[in-house]
Amino acid sequence: MKAIQLTAPSLKAFRQVELPDPQAGPGEVLVRLRAATLNFVDVAIATGHFPGAGFPMVPVADGSGEVAALGEGVAHLAPGLAIGDRVVPHFMPNWLGGAISARNVAAMRGITLPGSLADYVLVPATSLVALPPHLDFAQGAALPIAATTAWNAVRSAPLRPGSVVVLLGTGGVSIFALQFAKASGATVILLSSSDEKLERARQLGADHLVNYRATPAWDEAVLKLTAGRGADLVVETVGAATFARSLNAAAVGGTVFTLGFVGGTSLSIDLLPIIIKSLRIVGNNTGSVADLADAARAIAAHRMLPVIDQSFAIDEAPAAYAALSASGKHFGKIAIVQ
Ligand SMILES: NC(=O)c1ccc[n+]([C@@H]2O[C@H](COP(=O)([O-])OP(=O)(O)OC[C@H]3O[C@@H](n4cnc5c(N)ncnc54)[C@H](OP(=O)(O)O)[C@@H]3O)[C@@H](O)[C@H]2O)c1
Repeated sequence: MKAIQLTAPSLKAFRQVELPDPQAGPGEVLVRLRAATLNFVDVAIATGHFPGAGFPMVPVADGSGEVAALGEGVAHLAPGLAIGDRVVPHFMPNWLGGAISARNVAAMRGITLPGSLADYVLVPATSLVALPPHLDFAQGAALPIAATTAWNAVRSAPLRPGSVVVLLGTGGVSIFALQFAKASGATVILLSSSDEKLERARQLGADHLVNYRATPAWDEAVLKLTAGRGADLVVETVGAATFARSLNAAAVGGTVFTLGFVGGTSLSIDLLPIIIKSLRIVGNNTGSVADLADAARAIAAHRMLPVIDQSFAIDEAPAAYAALSASGKHFGKIAIVQ
């Protein structure tokens, strides 16, 4: 089969290769990949900023495709699964459900396991989720990391209609979180560096828009917009650069869902806002197959459309990575289609 390999942690180290055709073993499904989408973690791996990847490797965690072959015993593990079914393989195939454990997050597609820039991939039958019927392959490929994480973010706080959710930026996770938060009746305050992106977010339902370049003290803007109360949930997609302001923007008893590191991972922090406001700081590492399945069902029920900003052909993978990493221009997801 044809594949793209990353031979070293460098954005200049992509090469097209021929690899042996994989054969489905017991409990495995061979998936003919049709699309992938990029996450910030793919860029972190390709630039040597994320541990655990071995090189050479087939990169890109998230993908979607069609069932091409079923291994022995799959009929019992995934009843009804048939050749030709449109499927999404989960990023962490061993984490089927329940609580996180060291074992169930050790295997990650595109990091410790082959990723999505290939004709085919072998995955455990139990790691597959049906692609919602109203989505195309690129939209479906956006689900494993970004939609699962955003789904877990919005479920991490007891949101009621009118609860206030703050979203940082307009990347893949924030835009899914905007869609899930609006579907749950929340009021969304969304930040971006770009007025044009804020306008796109408004069209997706964001209630209040703050340009964090024009208003660096955006936490004070959140307090003003909420009559001093603050946000019930802050989805922290940025990290060190914004964490102190996220604590300040949160309401008494609020939740800061901590997942991102585009703005760094190290900081010194004043603990008093956490203590005085009894904040819940919830760390997150993506989610399980069951979480992905729930996110996909919510997307199907609300007929939500994942936002694909740009699509590239598979032999344009370096340009797709550049679009995510360098420009800061994307809104939602960047796809690679086959
Ligand atoms: N732990 C987990 O479960 C998990 C899962 C998924 C992703 N992540 C992490 O979460 C982060 C976001 O992922 P992603 O895929 O959504 O990334 P992405 O698509 O690359 O989006 C990043 C966005 O961050 C925004 N941003 C950057 N600096 C900002 C700042 N100072 N204030 C507010 N917004 C800022 C930018 O928005 P504007 O261009 O609009 O300014 C940018 O588009 C990454 O670090 C990723 O690795 C973690």
